[in-house]
Amino acid sequence: MLTIRIDEKPEALPFYLQIKLQICDQIRSGALPAGTRLPSSRGLAHQLQIARGSVVRAYEELCQEGLCTSGVGIGTLVCEHQNQPDMAGQTDTQASTLQVPDEPLNSGSGLISLLPSLATTEYLPKSELRKGFDRVLRYSSRLTAFNESAGDHRLRQLICEKLLPERSIRAQPQNVLIVPGTQYGSMLIALTLNKHRSDLHFGEPGYLDIARNFSRFGFSLKAHPMDNNGIILDSQLGKNDVLYLMPEHHFPQCITLSEKRRQEISHQLVNNGLMLIEDDYDSEFYYERMPLPALKSQQGHENIIYSGTFSKTLFNSLRLGYLVAEADLIQEMASLHWSLSRGTSGLLQHWVAELLAAGTLTKHTQRMRTVYQRKRDKVAELLAHRCPEWQFDVPKGGLQFFVNVGSPEMADQIIAKCRDMNIRMAHPSNYVLHDKSLMNFIIIGFGSASLSDIEKSIEELLL
Ligand SMILES: Cc1ncc(COP(=O)(O)O)c(C=O)c1O
Repeated sequence: MLTIRIDEKPEALPFYLQIKLQICDQIRSGALPAGTRLPSSRGLAHQLQIARGSVVRAYEELCQEGLCTSGVGIGTLVCEHQNQPDMAGQTDTQASTLQVPDEPLNSGSGLISLLPSLATTEYLPKSELRKGFDRVLRYSSRLTAFNESAGDHRLRQLICEKLLPERSIRAQPQNVLIVPGTQYGSMLIALTLNKHRSDLHFGEPGYLDIARNFSRFGFSLKAHPMDNNGIILDSQLGKNDVLYLMPEHHFPQCITLSEKRRQEISHQLVNNGLMLIEDDYDSEFYYERMPLPALKSQQGHENIIYSGTFSKTLFNSLRLGYLVAEADLIQEMASLHWSLSRGTSGLLQHWVAELLAAGTLTKHTQRMRTVYQRKRDKVAELLAHRCPEWQFDVPKGGLQFFVNVGSPEMADQIIAKCRDMNIRMAHPSNYVLHDKSLMNFIIIGFGSASLSDIEKSIEELLL
């Protein structure tokens, strides 16, 4: 039987969220088995002495997330609770880089996701988003035409005017290619650069999903160690090489490339013909300081392909990002993109252009910086207090903690326990090619899960 307690304190969560979370808990614990009919929204609202809208919203979200289903005449019923296999927890990385599982991003029904890099959708300014969408539909003639292969000109202009200057990058629309996400963009880069270059270098542990795309298209993968100053390159790289970097915030360890290493790399760009990919996936979320200027803004920038994404500032499933590079390279990649897919969704591009032009995106990003900073601080307190034997630095930015748990065996144990508890946590093998000794960490993503879910997960993990 459903029991809901409403906390009316001013600092408590919104009512709909309290209801939703308590129902989730009761479904997960088995207290509400599949097939249970939830009380009518009117009845529950009356019983709790709250507005019916809060219950309706809670039920709607439970249905959207697949935990419940509803229909005329049947009310709202608890669904079969699916225990989906967690591919992120697989440990077999030995055979080939292509067999490393792709990380499933959706948290799925009933799961708590501590996966990294997931933005929350809870605070999206829905009415502003709707207004932006309405403005797009008002000029529906725009939707009948395909965009230029490099993307909607207005969006590219707005990116040059509103986003790139934040990273000290000066660019014109002809330097910008709109892509359906960085991941896809990396494929265009790999397919374009593989005519002249053969090796992809990256820091390990690192973001292998992009490295894997290079491996798919013929590149040899060269992993380099990391220290607190960033990637350690022990030899000079040149015309055969592509270096994949996240200089501001190496993922998943949250390391900023030191000034000395930036200079060494700039030297190789200018003098040796090295090509660099600068993945700037979350610099919008820096908490104590402004992010450093992008490498793309500095000397040698002609040999840098910069990538940005709207996945964190709006939501991950939007699938919209951009590459910034020399105009001829952009043209080459745009033509490939056109052949492969006839360009990026015009509808999405117009919508995001509206949001940028109206200032909605900037306002939302500012707000989320504060939200995530608070969350980060709370999770840091929680980890320091409850898990004193785990080592971590409080990340200066981003949406995840990189936590050294002492040994690869301990990491395996924690992740196995997470799987049993329906908590989704990425396995270190997603970020390390072969060297098991490096897999002594777990990643606690705090972007999408609620604080109470994170707290609950940590408490349960420690039992
Ligand atoms: C380091 C890093 N680079 C790139 C991406 C891919 O971003 P997109 O969603 O634009 O494909 C992610 C995704 O979370 C990421 O963590």
